Amino acid sequence: MANDLKILYVASEALPFASTGGLADVIGSLPAALKKQGVDARVVIPFYSTVKAKYPNMDFVCDFTVKLSWRKQYCGIFSTVYNGVTFYFIDNEYYFNRPTLYGNYDDAERYAFFSKAVLDMLPRIDFFPDIIHTNDWQSALVGIYLKQIYRKEDYNYRPIRVIHSIHNIEYQGVYGHNILSDVFDLTPDLASIVDYNGAVNLTKGAIVCCDRLTTVSPTYAKEICTPKYSAGLYHIINQYAFKTTGIINGIDVDYYNPIKDNDLYAKFRAPSGKLKNKIALQKELGLPEAPNVPIVAMITRLTSHKGLDLVTTVIDEFLTENVQFVILGTGDPGFENFFRRLEENNPSKVKAIIQYDKALSKKIYGGADIFLMPSKSEPCGLAQMIASRYGTVPVVRETGGLYDTIKYYDDETGDGNGFTFKEYNAQDMLFTLRKAVSLYTDEKDKWKALCQKCMKIDFSWNVSAEAYLALYAEVLDLNK
Ligand code: GLC
Repeated sequence: MANDLKILYVASEALPFASTGGLADVIGSLPAALKKQGVDARVVIPFYSTVKAKYPNMDFVCDFTVKLSWRKQYCGIFSTVYNGVTFYFIDNEYYFNRPTLYGNYDDAERYAFFSKAVLDMLPRIDFFPDIIHTNDWQSALVGIYLKQIYRKEDYNYRPIRVIHSIHNIEYQGVYGHNILSDVFDLTPDLASIVDYNGAVNLTKGAIVCCDRLTTVSPTYAKEICTPKYSAGLYHIINQYAFKTTGIINGIDVDYYNPIKDNDLYAKFRAPSGKLKNKIALQKELGLPEAPNVPIVAMITRLTSHKGLDLVTTVIDEFLTENVQFVILGTGDPGFENFFRRLEENNPSKVKAIIQYDKALSKKIYGGADIFLMPSKSEPCGLAQMIASRYGTVPVVRETGGLYDTIKYYDDETGDGNGFTFKEYNAQDMLFTLRKAVSLYTDEKDKWKALCQKCMKIDFSWNVSAEAYLALYAEVLDLNK
């Protein structure tokens, strides 16, 4: 069946082209995993100016005009092949020549244009997929336009099924009603599709219109049915629970491979190979070169749902121990300043790198000992799996995909692959971190065995790609 299945992934970012977080990892690797199974998987993202600058030799495919309400906008299509997968890029300088991917005053209009352009592109590239797989609010309008408009006007769109994936329910695409016809080009009779809580909510519209809704771990799929985790959407999630599934993400185990990773100071096969990386990292970061002092690392967006308020509450107490703390990431200015100040006050113990730096992140995964991820909510989380692959032991809160991937280490039986705590509580996190530090310091052999075990866990896409294939088959009724 996989051999004639055609799937188009629509997203706002994809590695290696444009990335601000885990969504880019997924779109950069899941289609390639399915391609290996014989699926004709393709991807489309915007042609951001940063992508243009990095890849000036993309193939030009065609151009046409996209109509968005009263606007008529140029749309160019470029393409390239990466890891066997064809990537299309939607070109329009007015919308995508911006310093950042998101956070522009007209994001709603930019992604409405993108969504229409994706659907208008299909006849021009002669590719009508069996399934369009959309991701998060930026591509939510694709499913809404397809189901409410395109397939009523053109029979070619009729058989296409839509899968929508929620990578993080905190970001829903919420706008005022005035935007409905002027920007989204939706007539008043379609208002009820996107209307939620007195506003236009694109994620709600996608949930209503899609054939199947997925999210990125089984535990998060359950959590978003509750008020605590749904960022206000639990009524809708519950109403459509019959079409919702949670499938855990994999990671690209070729890209994240300590045996081959050129970003590391020294490639390694076994935990013993981490030491060289650790010393080189300490040197580069200006921390004391101390082979026996554990490095606790965080690589994260500096936003509150990542659990940073737990860290800010107890970090001073934690730093009384013989440890080093390294944090890499950007985000809320309050947190950025907190960690800058923490470094100033503890120059021999703390390094805060307030940047998004993929190459440095690999050096940290390779050189650190303990990886901290105390998220308040975590749809899937990839960093805990990447850290594990580089032999850095995860300390996580039991939520979402963190719960599904990391099990508590029992030092009697050797079961488990990390350290976990249940309640969102700073003292519980501190207690758990201390357990990890004491195993590192006092039980060298057990620690080494745990690192070894972490490195060997299979976090590849193999299992999850099968789960997606089964879902695609089900939605296309191929099993009948
Ligand atoms: C978002 C989520 C993260 C998930 C990623 C990929 O970034 O916050 O938990 O791993 O998407 O699905």
